[in-house]
Amino acid sequence: MRLKELRTAGEDRPPRLTVIVPTRNEAANIPLLLARLGPLLAPLDAELLVVDDSDDGTTGVLTRMAAEAPITVRLLHRPPHARSGGLGGAVLLGAAHARGEWVLVMDADLQHPPEAAATLARIAMRHDVDVVIGTRYAGSGSSGGLDGAFRVVTSSWTTRLVKGMFPRRLATVSDPMSGLFAFRRSAVRLDRMNPLGFKVLLELLVRHPGARVAEVAYDMAPRHGGRSKASLREGVTFLRHLARLRGRRLVGQIRRSPRTRVERLREFGRMIAFGMIGLSGMVVNTAALWLCYEPARMHHLVGAALATQVSTSWNFLLVDSLIYRRNRHGSFAARAARFFLLNNALLLLRLPVLQALVWAGVGVLVANAVTLSALFLVRFLVNDRVIYTA
Ligand code: GDD
Ligand code: MN
Repeated sequence: MRLKELRTAGEDRPPRLTVIVPTRNEAANIPLLLARLGPLLAPLDAELLVVDDSDDGTTGVLTRMAAEAPITVRLLHRPPHARSGGLGGAVLLGAAHARGEWVLVMDADLQHPPEAAATLARIAMRHDVDVVIGTRYAGSGSSGGLDGAFRVVTSSWTTRLVKGMFPRRLATVSDPMSGLFAFRRSAVRLDRMNPLGFKVLLELLVRHPGARVAEVAYDMAPRHGGRSKASLREGVTFLRHLARLRGRRLVGQIRRSPRTRVERLREFGRMIAFGMIGLSGMVVNTAALWLCYEPARMHHLVGAALATQVSTSWNFLLVDSLIYRRNRHGSFAARAARFFLLNNALLLLRLPVLQALVWAGVGVLVANAVTLSALFLVRFLVNDRVIYTA
C-alpha cells in the first residue's frame, strides 16, 4: 500500500493539522465533502488524508476532485487483503502517516458537517488539551441525523452502557462513541491502540487514562449519499471490542496489589471489615434460605437465588455506607447495579457446587454457607479493586 500525494498546496513543510477521513464506498459523497471542507481547512494550515477501503469509484472521484482543492490531499488506499481492523484500522493507519501536530477524524458521508469539524479543530488547537470530542449528547448537540428511531435509541443506550462500564474514565465524556474527534498527536501512543471496528475514540480514551479531554457540541446531519456501513456484524464486533477493553482492564485491576505497607495494612483492615459484614450477610442469607426452603417449601436452588438477593441488598447497604463511603463512583443505582451484577455472577458459579454438595449428602443450609465462604476472597478483591477503587 502506497501513500499517494494527490495534490500539494502551499510550501513543503508539515501542516499543523491532519484531517483523516476513512472511506468505504463513498464515491457519492466525495465531491460535496471536498467542496465544503477544502475552503474551511485552507486557513487552518491543514492537510487531508483519506484512508480508503473502497471497491467503488471513490479513489477515482477523489483523484479528480483533489486537483482543484485548496489544500494538500493525500490518499492511502488499502487493497482487500490489507483491510485489517475495518474503520478502526484505517484511522490508526492514517494517524501513523499524519504529519500535523493535531489530528482530526471525521466521516465522509457529511454526517459530521465540515463547518462543525473545522470549528472543533480550531477550538482544539487553541487550548491546552489532548483530545477534543464532537458531542451529540451535551450542550446544543443533537443526534437527529442518525437514520431511524432504532439507531437513535441504540446509540443513546449503548452510550449509557459504555459509560457505566468505564465510570471513572468516561465520567466527563458525554459522547465516547463519537466518530468526530481530534487529538494531539504527541499525547497518543498508537502502539497502545488496537481498535476493533467502529469505536476508535473509545479505544483511545480507555487506553490513555491521563489524557486531558474536552468536548464541543455539534448537530449530526443525515447521511448525504450512499449507504451506512453499520450492520449487525459490526454490532457483534462492537461487543467483542467492549469485552476486550473491559476484560483486560478487569484482570489487571483485580491482580494489582497495594504498593506501600500502609496501603497494604489499610486493605487488610477493609478486608476484616468486609469479612464482618459478610458474616452478618451470611446469617441473613441463611435465614432467608431457611424461610424459602422450610415454611415456603421452595426448591433449594430457587431459595438460594432469592436469599442471595436479600443478603446482597443487606451487604450492599452496609459496605457502601460503612467501608467505601469515600470511594464511591457513579450514582447509588449504578453502584448497586455493579454490586448485584457481581453477586449474581458468583451465584451462577455457586449453584452447581451447592447442588453437588447436596447430592453428596450435605445439608442445604450448610452447603449454601460453604459456597458463600469459598468465594469470600473473590468478592472482596473485586469490590476493593474494581467496584470501589480509590
Ligand atoms: N477505510 C474504511 N474502512 N472506512 C470505513 C469502513 C472501513 O471498513 N467502514 C466505514 N468506513 C467509513 C465510511 O465510509 C464513513 O466515512 C465512516 O467510516 C462512517 O461510516 P458509516 O457507515 O457512515 O457509519 P455510521 O454513520 O453508522 O457511524 C458513524 O457514527 C457512529 C456514531 O453514531 C461513525 O462515525 C462511527 O464511528 C460512530 O461511532
Ligand atoms: Mn454515517
